[in-house]
Amino acid sequence: MQIIETVAALRSALKHQTNTALVPTMGNLHAGHLHLVALAKQQAACVVVSIFVNPLQFGANEDLANYPRSLEADCEKLAAAGVDIVFAPSVIEMYPQFDGDQLNQTMTITAPDIANELCGASRPGHFSGVATVVAKLFNIVMPQLAVFGKKDFQQLHIIRELVKQFNLPITIIAGDTVRESNGLAMSSRNGFLTAAQKNTAAQLHQELNAIKLQIQHGNTDFNALTMDASERLQATGWLVDYISVRNSISLAPAASQDQTIVILAAAKLGNTRLIDNVDLLR
Ligand code: PAF
Repeated sequence: MQIIETVAALRSALKHQTNTALVPTMGNLHAGHLHLVALAKQQAACVVVSIFVNPLQFGANEDLANYPRSLEADCEKLAAAGVDIVFAPSVIEMYPQFDGDQLNQTMTITAPDIANELCGASRPGHFSGVATVVAKLFNIVMPQLAVFGKKDFQQLHIIRELVKQFNLPITIIAGDTVRESNGLAMSSRNGFLTAAQKNTAAQLHQELNAIKLQIQHGNTDFNALTMDASERLQATGWLVDYISVRNSISLAPAASQDQTIVILAAAKLGNTRLIDNVDLLR
């Protein structure tokens, strides 16, 4: 496995590849990421995993400085998983316009309106930052396919829009969320949770599943379902950002007759913000 830090070296390493899969990550890899790598390996001759904590997608009050970084351990896991290339650029390599803590000379992609809802409502600019770095990674690696996790469902939606609206010849593959035995979705941020919080954290998935069950039984009072779940979570110490029932294809608020549904949530336990979702077909 090669570990490459510059765009020029990566381009040269990939010069003769015609069947490349990219798995973009911010590192601190867990079983969820390795599942995405396994999907990539099934479909492509060459698998590139990028590890880059993208400053553009963090708000001023977010955890950029504290975001867990573990390049050496990540590379060991990726080598064992049969990855061909790890692309781990510096901030300056990705954003040569970067000066100190200012990224204001950087050209960015404006994400569609849906980027201002759900997670975007409390993280202004987040999805513009994601779309920009993913577009850059696509241009650098020029993969035939790219794999993203369904845990970041809104991100996956926006990346699919990016590919569609910018006519990028890249197939997007979605990997299922990998969960701890108690149902907690695997996330790099789970490492911030205390043992007690990890137990409580499983409740988020349980509440989403409870709503899913109700919808499967024909209950379409989405407002009441999400408000009740929010109240139960707040009662056990969560600070709920949102719980929302959406059409899983358009991400618009679900209508009672919709057949493709996703229930999404973001909530904080202490200082740790967790997201999760479950989808269903009716
Ligand atoms: O999902 C992530 O880890 C990041 O948002 C991504 C897609 C690697 C872009 O920085």
